[in-house]
Amino acid sequence: MSKFIIDNAGSLTGFVEVSGSKNAVLPLMAATLLTDDDCLITEVPNLMDVEVMCGLLRSFGSNVRCDMEDHSIELKAGDIITNEAPAELVKKMRASIVAMGPLLARTGQARIPLPGGCAIGDRPIDLHVKGLHALGADITIYRIEDGHECVEATTDGLHGAEIYLDTPSVGATENIMMAAALADGVTVIENAAQEPEIVDLANYINKMGARIKGAGMDIIKIEGVKSLHGAAHSVIPDRIEAGTFMLAAAITGGDVTITNMLPDHVKPVAAKLRECGCIVENTLEGTRVRLNGRSPIATDIKTLPYPGFPTDIQPQFMTFLATVRGSSTILETVFENRFMHIEQLNKMGAKIREDGRRAYIPGGMTLKGNEVTATDLRAGAALVLAGLVAEGETTISDVYHIDRGYDSIIEKFRAVGGKIERRE
Ligand code: EPZ
Repeated sequence: MSKFIIDNAGSLTGFVEVSGSKNAVLPLMAATLLTDDDCLITEVPNLMDVEVMCGLLRSFGSNVRCDMEDHSIELKAGDIITNEAPAELVKKMRASIVAMGPLLARTGQARIPLPGGCAIGDRPIDLHVKGLHALGADITIYRIEDGHECVEATTDGLHGAEIYLDTPSVGATENIMMAAALADGVTVIENAAQEPEIVDLANYINKMGARIKGAGMDIIKIEGVKSLHGAAHSVIPDRIEAGTFMLAAAITGGDVTITNMLPDHVKPVAAKLRECGCIVENTLEGTRVRLNGRSPIATDIKTLPYPGFPTDIQPQFMTFLATVRGSSTILETVFENRFMHIEQLNKMGAKIREDGRRAYIPGGMTLKGNEVTATDLRAGAALVLAGLVAEGETTISDVYHIDRGYDSIIEKFRAVGGKIERRE
């Protein structure tokens, strides 16, 4: 198992380029199951999760040619040979669940082992089930031999429906949108997720011949079509990676310009950094974040579905708040257990107190290097930021979590002066 070794290298300065979005590319890849035509996806980030999704699509019978040199994938779901996802792949990546909608729409059946909970929450799929059932699928959840549960969806034809999502679930919106694209009739999703990744997926499926309107708002209308053809698409930049590097600039008091990012996608992060006294400028070259000699001050954070403050940046912002003058609170409203990083940050002297979904950060701490563990993807990123400013060396274990969601993170931090290395 590899570890990261990080030393304090002072302020980060320079330019860093953001890769394609993990949370966009995974559903985009799943969407290629909707057609038997050739598909091409470019600007693909080189991530463990992308490799797992390639394996999953191949297990269904797709031809997948992944070329990480030029960050592109050619996919052709010509003949679907099975509509059952292998449990060992689903276990590695919860997002496998977004194969259910397209597989069901294309073949009339989908069997996906339930990914089950993870570090940040029990991750139910009741809204996925509610939506696909409304579209005309029979859904059963049953136990398979190794004790795991599996969800099976079958249909002899999907039809349009009006579906209200009790919470604006990203994955449920994606699954329903993909299944509805080939349903007979019109589907309306109310209280739909509005994340940029939903818009990117709708844009791609529309290029394939679908008729989706309203993606990015809370009501999405999908007029089903008989079939879809192949298309090429370029993945949007990763707004969570962008936000992570914005915070790296802020926490080290540096001056970093992040290129290949879409400022509109990180508005809440930029707004909260400005409240802390950071200068965040959108220039022709990219988004420049610096403190310009000021010492940052505290602010409060409440995570919400997009366009609210993103839960995926909450751990990284917590690390920053632990070091700024003044106390702050973070309210995590999206996931029920997304404070696993607090224990690790406290091993570095952060003195953060948690009470249910609230975290109380005293602030003004000088973090101390220590041996810590990445408990999940974004918690790992938060610990990298802590290591960059801590006194002394920080060792992070279980960094496979980080490799799932950050392409070339070591090279990127080194390019702006970070002292970080990977050790097997
Ligand atoms: C996506 O997960 C992202 N993953 C997550 O990013 C992100 O944190 C999350 O959206 C919220 O923005 C991918 O896109 C691959 P949800 P998803 O369904 O779709 C509840 C990262 O770090 N819910 O929007 O699984 C659920 O319990 C990852 O990159 C139901 O109650 O998130 C949670 O509280 C972490 N029933 C809330 O909705 C359901 O059927 C949001 O979950 C589905 C979800």
